[in-house]
Amino acid sequence: MSKLTINSTLRMNSGYEIPMLGYGVYVVTKAFEAGYRHVDSAAVYRNEEPSAAAIKRSSIPRSQIFFTSKVPPRGLSYARAAAQIEASLKLTGLEYIDLMLLHAPYGGRESRKGAWKALVEAQEAGKVRSIGVSNYGVQHLDEMELYIKELEKERGGEGKGGKIDVGQWEIHPWLPRRDIVEWCEKRGVVVQAYCPIVRGRRMDDPVLQPLVKKHGKTGAQILIRWSLQKGFVPLPKSVTPSRIVENADVYDFELDAEDMKALEINAYEPCAWDPTVAGLEE
Ligand SMILES: NC(=O)c1ccc[n+]([C@@H]2O[C@H](COP(=O)([O-])OP(=O)(O)OC[C@H]3O[C@@H](n4cnc5c(N)ncnc54)[C@H](OP(=O)(O)O)[C@@H]3O)[C@@H](O)[C@H]2O)c1
Repeated sequence: MSKLTINSTLRMNSGYEIPMLGYGVYVVTKAFEAGYRHVDSAAVYRNEEPSAAAIKRSSIPRSQIFFTSKVPPRGLSYARAAAQIEASLKLTGLEYIDLMLLHAPYGGRESRKGAWKALVEAQEAGKVRSIGVSNYGVQHLDEMELYIKELEKERGGEGKGGKIDVGQWEIHPWLPRRDIVEWCEKRGVVVQAYCPIVRGRRMDDPVLQPLVKKHGKTGAQILIRWSLQKGFVPLPKSVTPSRIVENADVYDFELDAEDMKALEINAYEPCAWDPTVAGLEE
């Protein structure tokens, strides 16, 4: 684990690499200066364009930057997902998007299947390099596997249904989502963790405080390090320059087995929305 660096990557099913430490947009130029190379945006947050502008302004080669966007959560369909990919490419002026996710599983079976097909086609066309889902529960993921098999048949064979490269969920010690994580690990799906620092709301937590004292690091740094050591891709967000730097300064210490055990909390305490609990018809 001590080999983790700010340049650490994971390999996705698509064969491409994803930088492990992601950055949830806004002050992207500052984040690039601090060493981040992975930006998580979404059409619905209207932050694709400023992210892309920062990418273009920087002197970092495009190939070293990892840019994510997402198909909006409402009104999912084949046509809307296909149109969103075109719109994101146009708005950002980028030649390709590194990762396109379906933002949430709402809309019912046919919507999800259609939107997935649009991602698969865009990946084949090189418009997006890797594809995946966000906020899907195990029931949605199991359903996706069926879609993938159906699509394979419809589209003429093995691999034609696509593969899930990445899944994105709210994950931190108070929402470990063990069922989803296990599902992904079995299939080589990279897990991204949003709200990795619980929106700054747990910094005084009695579980966190002893680790803060032991390592001389901040609560945010302990939580980001936990996420990285779990093998996740944490996406901490800050608009505060000093915190952007702080959140990337996590490569000079290691949580030991006892520390990791202390953070194994059997809780379900989301700080954001939780579409994973939605029924298949919602
Ligand atoms: N797929 C989805 O549905 C979904 C949902 C939510 C989020 N996301 C993604 O995940 C990213 C992060 O999520 P998030 O912003 O909700 O939660 P977060 O990263 O856990 O927390 C961000 C909050 O913590 C504060 N903060 C940042 N660094 C800190 C530090 N070192 N010490 C104390 N407080 C600190 C920030 O304040 P300041 O900014 O004022 O510094 C901000 O209020 C988003 O930007 C987005 O890209 C995805």
